Amino acid sequence: MTIDRRDLLLGALAGSLALIRPRRALAADEVARVDALIARMTIEEKAGQMTCLADSFRPFNPPNPQVGIQDEKRLSDEVRRGRVGCLFNGIGVAGARRAQEMAVKDSRLGIPLLFAGDIIHGLKTVFPVPLAEAASFDPDLCQRTARAMAVEATAAGLHLTFAPMVDVARDQRWGRVVEGAGEDATLTGILSAARIRGFQGRDLRRDDSLLACPKHFAAYGAVAAGLEYGNVDISEETLRETHLPPFGKAFAAGALTTMAAFNEINGVPATADSELLTDILRGEMQFRGFVFSDYTADEELVAHGFAEDARDAARLAILAGVDMSMQSGLYIRYLPELVKSGAVPMGTVDVAVRRILYVKAAIGLFDNPWRSLSEEVEKTRIFTASHRALARDAATRSVVLLKNDDLLPIDPARRQKIALIGPFGEDRDNLYGPWAFYADPGKGVDIAAGLRAALPDPALLTVTPGSAIAAPIDGGIAAAVAAAQAADLVLLAIGESQAMSGEAQSRTVIEIPPAQQTLADAVVATGKPVAILLRHGRALALHGGVADAQAILATWFLGSEAGHAIADILFGKADPSAKLPVSFPWESGQEPFFYDRKSTGRPVVDDRTEYKARYATTDNSARFPFGHGLSYTDFALDQLKLSDTALRWDAAIEVTARVTNRGKRKGSEVVQLYIRDRVASRTRPIRELKRMERVTLAPGESRTVRFSLSRGDLEFVGARNQRIAEPGAFDLWVGQSSVEGLHAQFTLYAQVKAAG
Ligand code: NOJ
Repeated sequence: MTIDRRDLLLGALAGSLALIRPRRALAADEVARVDALIARMTIEEKAGQMTCLADSFRPFNPPNPQVGIQDEKRLSDEVRRGRVGCLFNGIGVAGARRAQEMAVKDSRLGIPLLFAGDIIHGLKTVFPVPLAEAASFDPDLCQRTARAMAVEATAAGLHLTFAPMVDVARDQRWGRVVEGAGEDATLTGILSAARIRGFQGRDLRRDDSLLACPKHFAAYGAVAAGLEYGNVDISEETLRETHLPPFGKAFAAGALTTMAAFNEINGVPATADSELLTDILRGEMQFRGFVFSDYTADEELVAHGFAEDARDAARLAILAGVDMSMQSGLYIRYLPELVKSGAVPMGTVDVAVRRILYVKAAIGLFDNPWRSLSEEVEKTRIFTASHRALARDAATRSVVLLKNDDLLPIDPARRQKIALIGPFGEDRDNLYGPWAFYADPGKGVDIAAGLRAALPDPALLTVTPGSAIAAPIDGGIAAAVAAAQAADLVLLAIGESQAMSGEAQSRTVIEIPPAQQTLADAVVATGKPVAILLRHGRALALHGGVADAQAILATWFLGSEAGHAIADILFGKADPSAKLPVSFPWESGQEPFFYDRKSTGRPVVDDRTEYKARYATTDNSARFPFGHGLSYTDFALDQLKLSDTALRWDAAIEVTARVTNRGKRKGSEVVQLYIRDRVASRTRPIRELKRMERVTLAPGESRTVRFSLSRGDLEFVGARNQRIAEPGAFDLWVGQSSVEGLHAQFTLYAQVKAAG
């Protein structure tokens, strides 16, 4: 593909002016300042601005041994020579100031550094992992926790977070499911946009505004068989229907950066895919910010079998639309020669540098390179009491009550003896989740500590591990059974370690590790009432004693306040109100599994009829479906009404339903609206989530929820990848999960053409 330099330059300029809107347009003098700078920059300085390296001024953990500059002295030299524009994954103001002084005072042009990091669900105050928080189905909560994260991250000397991950994840074998909002594109888009608003705040120039980087563009969640870094073979329709829309919502929310995905799509690695990174991202989606590569992903084009060597990889990445190379150092190494030889036009480099400098200007770095670098602020804005209170609230709103046979809540006044059994009872190493590597180990509240703080008499609690996470312990089961028998009820804390999900943690089996399953079977066999407290970063297939227990709670990785939040739920101080953002299948082998699948020509009608689309060994349903989640109170829906069962082409219909709290406790329900397009020129899913609303009601209280639906809600990707809506009949459900609800029908009528 040939690149028209003038078009790109003009596009970048116009776009960059637009990109800041509506928050704050880049002033004309800032545009002029960037232009003047670019005019003075050598190709080496340009390549430097396009280079992001691991921060060895303040490394957070042992640096990756394979790549990068690992000592501060060498990195200082690079900064002084203007050969680096961005540092990532170091925190702390002192180190950042040191580096910024070198960039601003010692480098020829004095361009400030951008400091980036993976603030995925918290810096020091750790909030629930993103998948857990997605279970709240609550954009307002996501916005508030993202704001708190931004306040802490910017206090620690960061300007940008590599978050949110907006990849739709439909295969629970993929470890990074934990980092996103689950299997549904609509939910992912809504929650991601909220997170971006929270990170960035209302004014990008404020000291506590943290740039967002929705990632990974694109379809990383669709890696075949859930294999991390794997390949994606996907129809254009699914790409556009499921994986791109959350990015659209993220950009509309004001995100100014994104990250190209590690994976290839249909044979072309995303990092070298100009159709994806330029035609779709910039042309169709009108993205006006800059694109990071993922960590050494440009260099990896060689291993993909797409680039001949590292030089070729750098060439392909820049030509495709990667503006900032992360960690490989390929741009600084090869761009000067690539431009000199004519293999890469200088105009292409200028466009990329301009995009990066505009973002630096947009956050006010040229006016104040010391923004977000105050040692005073660092002392007061991190791990505050109000952030910890928010973390506790967020954690209680993330716990999903999957099953409850009249066991929960526990009334502490009854003074029952409680046996807390399982490897996670007193564990503090697996509270945070896999993406909280800046948090202080040991500062989180474990389950036992949370329960003791809530019980009238802490002596009512016994704690017995029973098993390690992945292996049995000598005498563990006997001790656990004895503890269960001596108690009135058992809380069984089992599941995955935090190292079992996250990056590079794909698994073939998504079950409780065998040693813990044996423990659970033995404990449940005692006949004592058992509530399972699952710890996990993905949906799990539950079996045996785990599935048979009277109560099951999905407690994910809840962060700093996990123990208090779990106690709040168990003792009924908080009512469970979360819903599953991922379906829990019966068996691992059902993956990829998601609720909005297609029907097939032979849908299952009952469990007897042969030759239907099902596994011979497993039901097609989920054990716990998307959208499912119980409460301690009892919600009922009725009075579903449509303002009209005929939806005119340019009109809207109003859908209302009454939700009533029939129980004896205050609680919250997430009312969900799904549709099905019965007949279409491309088959449509059996259900699609379109709307949701959280309602909090006192006992006996009722409220009418209202949703408006119009043609745009019925659109899908049709022939030639055009978004279309087709006249015809639609089903509609308003319910409490993706598999039930009040049902109605309506018809979309074609546009009436004016006569004559
Ligand atoms: C690789 C991950 O894929 C990406 O999400 C992350 O932001 C970078 N590493 C930087 O740590």
